[in-house]
Amino acid sequence: MKHRQILRAAAAFTLCLTATTMMASTATAAPTKGKVSVLNWWTSGSEAKSMHILQQMLADQGYKMVNDAVSGGGGSNARTVLKSRIQSHNVPGAAQIKGPEIQQWCSTGLTMSIDALAEKSHWDQVLPTAVSKYMKCDGHYVAVPFNIHRTNWLWINKAVLAKAGAAMPTDWDSLVAALKKIKQAGITPIAGGGNTWQVATELDAIALAAGGPDFYRKAFVDLDTSALSGDDMIKSFKHLRTIQQYSDPNAQGLSWNHDTGEVVQGKAGMQIMGDWAKGEITNANATPGKEIACIAFPGAHTGYSYQSDSFEMFAHSNSDQNAQYAFARTALSPKFQRKFNKAKGSIPVRQDVSLKGFDACAHKAKKDFKAAEKNNALVPTFSQDMAEKGAVKGAIFDVIAKFYNDKNMSAEDAAREMAHRVQQAQAMS
Ligand code: GAL
Repeated sequence: MKHRQILRAAAAFTLCLTATTMMASTATAAPTKGKVSVLNWWTSGSEAKSMHILQQMLADQGYKMVNDAVSGGGGSNARTVLKSRIQSHNVPGAAQIKGPEIQQWCSTGLTMSIDALAEKSHWDQVLPTAVSKYMKCDGHYVAVPFNIHRTNWLWINKAVLAKAGAAMPTDWDSLVAALKKIKQAGITPIAGGGNTWQVATELDAIALAAGGPDFYRKAFVDLDTSALSGDDMIKSFKHLRTIQQYSDPNAQGLSWNHDTGEVVQGKAGMQIMGDWAKGEITNANATPGKEIACIAFPGAHTGYSYQSDSFEMFAHSNSDQNAQYAFARTALSPKFQRKFNKAKGSIPVRQDVSLKGFDACAHKAKKDFKAAEKNNALVPTFSQDMAEKGAVKGAIFDVIAKFYNDKNMSAEDAAREMAHRVQQAQAMS
């Protein structure tokens, strides 16, 4: 291209860009009431879509939501970014933080109370205590919950199961029998294992099914040494090794949502993952509960490992306080609760919101949640930050990674090391 041509092309490009910008800014009313920046780790197709719903609802009210999304399933990268942003005084108006970590942030004195809003909107009445207790510091609301996710799901491509001549699993043995048949049919039985967070999510589901809610609570919430090193933990590690043997050997580095795609396309038979996978299934135009079955991870026990995605509010942030309030208020509005949770794969955290129009798996989730609440079978999920704080979680994850990477490590050694590392982490924190 000659020099003049290049100049002409550049001018045309600039013009085109200006026109696009103008079109974009006239499409939605220009936000005038202030902005809120929101740090999160929702970058998969369905996650981004779900966040866009909030951005749009805020824009409709005249607020600008800056979506500071940092990639990395489970949020390890986003957590690092939050710390460094706080150190450099670039504090977001809201940040995705879950479980006991919410309280840890309160002790820094940086968080903002949203009691006035919570009181006015009756949060204590519409939220389950299993969730609301995490949103408060010393009785004051500092975080807003978006949803309830269940971790202990198994997603199964029904066509793959039929092709392999396998039956729908109902317990551990029938699950292994189905995996064996899928492998014999030349299809990858389990999509997963790409990183430690995914493997921890698998062990999470396995442990609840193998040892039951009482064991799970003793081990991962009370951090009881004999539960951490005992028979149920050993059994859980043994089952994890079996799952590993049926997993994609080339999974290293693959994301959880890539794996969900493999199951939807029939390239793999199953995935052990929380119901954020359901968001991806829907996004790929499949129907959860129809082509892709959703069952609680099967084993000797049933239970419900839950987590609630929530956003902690920060004072002295780079955001406008009225926009922060609008963010929290809109997130818990019935309209957003329905739209968002349908797209995200979770169920509404507001207990007074109807599930009309939600898929069969969401209905099952809600029914099972209620039953688990009643039967003391509801457990806060350890792999998704609901059970313990950073250092202990890090120790548990380290042992899981070591076990998964060293095929010669026995389940007994892994359980023993788990108890030891957790004790050490507790002593140091
Ligand atoms: C979880 C989060 C879910 C989902 C998942 C993968 O920790 O709670 O909502 O987004 O990570 O990114």
